[in-house]
Amino acid sequence: MPTPLRFSAFVMNTTSHILHGAWRIPDARQTDFNSLQHWIDLVKTLEAAKFDFVFFADVVGLYDDYQGDWKKFVDSGLQIPSNDPLVLASALASHTENLGLAITSSILQEHPFDFARKISTLDHASGGRIAWNIVTSLSKNAWRNFGYDDITRHDDRYEWAQEYADVVYKLWEGSWDEGALLQDKESGLHADFDRIHKINHHGERYRVEGPHLVAPSPQRTPVLFQAGSSPAGRRFAARNAEAQFIVSPTPAAAQTLIDDTRRLVVESGRDARDLKFFQGLSFVIGSTEEEAQRKSVELDEFIDPSTIIAHAAGGLGFDLGHHDLDTPIGDIDTQGTQSTLLWLREAVPDREPTVRDLALLRSRHGRVVGTPEQIADRLTEWRAAGVDGINVINATIPGSYVEFAEYVLPVLRERGLAQEDYVDGTVRGKLTGRDRLPDSHPAARYRGAFADVPA
Ligand SMILES: Cc1cc2nc3c(=O)[nH]c(=O)nc-3n(C[C@H](O)[C@H](O)[C@H](O)COP(=O)(O)O)c2cc1C
Repeated sequence: MPTPLRFSAFVMNTTSHILHGAWRIPDARQTDFNSLQHWIDLVKTLEAAKFDFVFFADVVGLYDDYQGDWKKFVDSGLQIPSNDPLVLASALASHTENLGLAITSSILQEHPFDFARKISTLDHASGGRIAWNIVTSLSKNAWRNFGYDDITRHDDRYEWAQEYADVVYKLWEGSWDEGALLQDKESGLHADFDRIHKINHHGERYRVEGPHLVAPSPQRTPVLFQAGSSPAGRRFAARNAEAQFIVSPTPAAAQTLIDDTRRLVVESGRDARDLKFFQGLSFVIGSTEEEAQRKSVELDEFIDPSTIIAHAAGGLGFDLGHHDLDTPIGDIDTQGTQSTLLWLREAVPDREPTVRDLALLRSRHGRVVGTPEQIADRLTEWRAAGVDGINVINATIPGSYVEFAEYVLPVLRERGLAQEDYVDGTVRGKLTGRDRLPDSHPAARYRGAFADVPA
């Protein structure tokens, strides 16, 4: 039997996340995103289906202007309004027992001291089920929202992210030794001063004295996700991440990306298997192939290509709204998503890709259409390419997940491609077999590192 694939549900606390226009489908309930009950119902559905994670994407600003301004985003609900996912997490934790809660948080939005504290609190509250998707924010508006004149250059953002990660690693891994919290009612000693340390971080961007205010949580460091595939993004993932979200056009392209990144993982002193890869896919399921194809055409009738372009263009760092659909996009200098350009070139290898290619690719890319058996065949190919998990993109919430759970997962289980049940314990334990980061992870070097620093 193969190793089962992992499944995460890719959602955002907003109406229109990826498949823009799909919110207009009559049974689409993603318009209810302001309702806490909407999310509680979803995580219960996911947990009943043995999904590994609910993965909340997030942004802290609008995408870059489309046709000169931001009206398009408002008109089409493109990630505005959007609510903070972190605020949902403790409520979702209290309604689930096994589901991993993966939260996107940008290095821009919270000071690392405060972020580390919130995450540790949530990791306690959820019994060790928190994951953090580390992002650096690729829109200029996001950077201006936090007081910067402009976006920091692409590779420099990853350097910044590395310092941010180092600060939180120091707090999570190095500030408290094991057993420091005593709560000894007899002696009256609450915690052991000798086993709690200030971190005294003095870096280029942050100064943090410590100690961490939260005692070690079940995982200490949350499971670390990352989603950039540019050379700098891959290096960052290879060093830091335990799971990388990828959006490869084909299993063969995924295999190349995975092999290359795993090589970098080994170069950074980690085990190649310590980084897992989750491919983003959406599913249109039919009882026959004809039915599935018909449903896919029906979905296309709702998909809104200009909003797809506005979203893609925002991440690229230039305004595609001013360009004709047949304009080649290759020569444009951008500080945005390099991986989208690489991906576009892989998908259209024989000529210069155009704006139209980008819209088509974004809306149909990663859409798997077929019967449950055909879908299982396709997932077998992704598995064989080295993919560890699938990040399930929705057309409708909860419909896409309800259908996937009802029709596809049973077939995958029969083939050993989906887990039968959860194992107990933390979400890192479920994913890797251990609750804490391995010694080879860069965060582990901070364990015990501050013991000799004078208080
Ligand atoms: C599947 C996936 C999910 C992502 N989710 C978010 C997100 O929620 N918030 C965000 O700011 N960026 C998100 N990104 C953007 C990445 O964090 C990263 O900035 C982007 O891929 C550019 O990195 P690169 O140039 O190294 O490829 C996501 C990217 C991918 C591929």
